[in-house]
Amino acid sequence: MPEAERQLWRDLVERRLPDAARGRADWPVGLDHCFARILLDNACGGPWRDDIPPPAWANAPPDTLRMAIDLGEAVLTGRADLARLNRRSLVWRGKAKALPAPAALYDRDLLLRPWNPQDEAPFAALNADPEAMRYCPALRSPEASRGESRRYARLFAADGFGPWALEAEGQGFLGFVGGMRLMRVLPFPGGDQPGALVEIAYRLAPAGWGRGLATRAARLVLADLFERCPITEVVGFTALSNVPSQRVMQRLGMQRAADFAHPALAVGHPLRTHALYRIDAAAFRAGEGEAA
Ligand SMILES: CC(C)(COP(=O)(O)OP(=O)(O)OC[C@H]1O[C@@H](n2cnc3c(N)ncnc32)[C@H](O)[C@@H]1OP(=O)(O)O)[C@@H](O)C(=O)NCCC(=O)NCCS
Repeated sequence: MPEAERQLWRDLVERRLPDAARGRADWPVGLDHCFARILLDNACGGPWRDDIPPPAWANAPPDTLRMAIDLGEAVLTGRADLARLNRRSLVWRGKAKALPAPAALYDRDLLLRPWNPQDEAPFAALNADPEAMRYCPALRSPEASRGESRRYARLFAADGFGPWALEAEGQGFLGFVGGMRLMRVLPFPGGDQPGALVEIAYRLAPAGWGRGLATRAARLVLADLFERCPITEVVGFTALSNVPSQRVMQRLGMQRAADFAHPALAVGHPLRTHALYRIDAAAFRAGEGEAA
């Protein structure tokens, strides 16, 4: 990891955030190790020591440290809600109450349910399938795949919603569909406020494609986010070349916004330019979510 980033991180959590906290009676914490815990847990999607051997400043993967730094800068400039970030971290550490979430969502042959250990093998197979992953920057190892499903499963307690495991009758586990708070700073309106916007995400095994399952599952998710949570707006994005994913968003009634360059992908990477879609609760309720 570049030394400059490490310095930036240490200066942020050891000096700039604790200094700023002295003038912020509304902040729930003020000590350097509390800021480090909150930012790293939110960048990792769980207690950071589960993913990174201490010390984090030396061992965190560059992308994780970058996310944590971006989160800290957003807290300093009032673009991120420190109380929310702190509560998520405490929930993951068993020190705050989990938010309620439904036991499952379903529609006829379609079931969105919590993740279970039996999903590990089929999810690893999906994440290692070059066809299913052709619009993702890289295939995932079984270990990375386990980490991903663990992160998704933890989001329900922290936020009251998250990416569900998807099952279709007679086929068992097919992938995931769900909403997640966008924690990475991204270059589009609202994308500079990590934790405020909710994104809809999905990944299905090819055995689940071509039957409208992803779209039906995503409608269940949007209805839950808008009616129960209540979330006011949902975004979705994917590589410009990922037409199947964009067709799902269009069927959901989501509106195309300006494309953006994904900061985690290098200039010139074929997947870097992303199409962005958005939908608000009013548009979903007005029936656009039922678009054919
Ligand atoms: C993105 C992805 C979920 C789309 O799956 P999909 O099966 O094409 O999408 P749907 O579930 O909405 O199915 C729609 C297709 O089923 C057909 N279909 C059949 N019955 C249908 C119904 N009742 N309603 C809607 N579509 C139906 C449609 O004709 C449509 O095919 P078309 O796009 O050729 O017109 C899937 O390609 C995928 O998981 N890809 C890999 C991961 C990925 O790219 N994720 C997004 C990355 S950001």
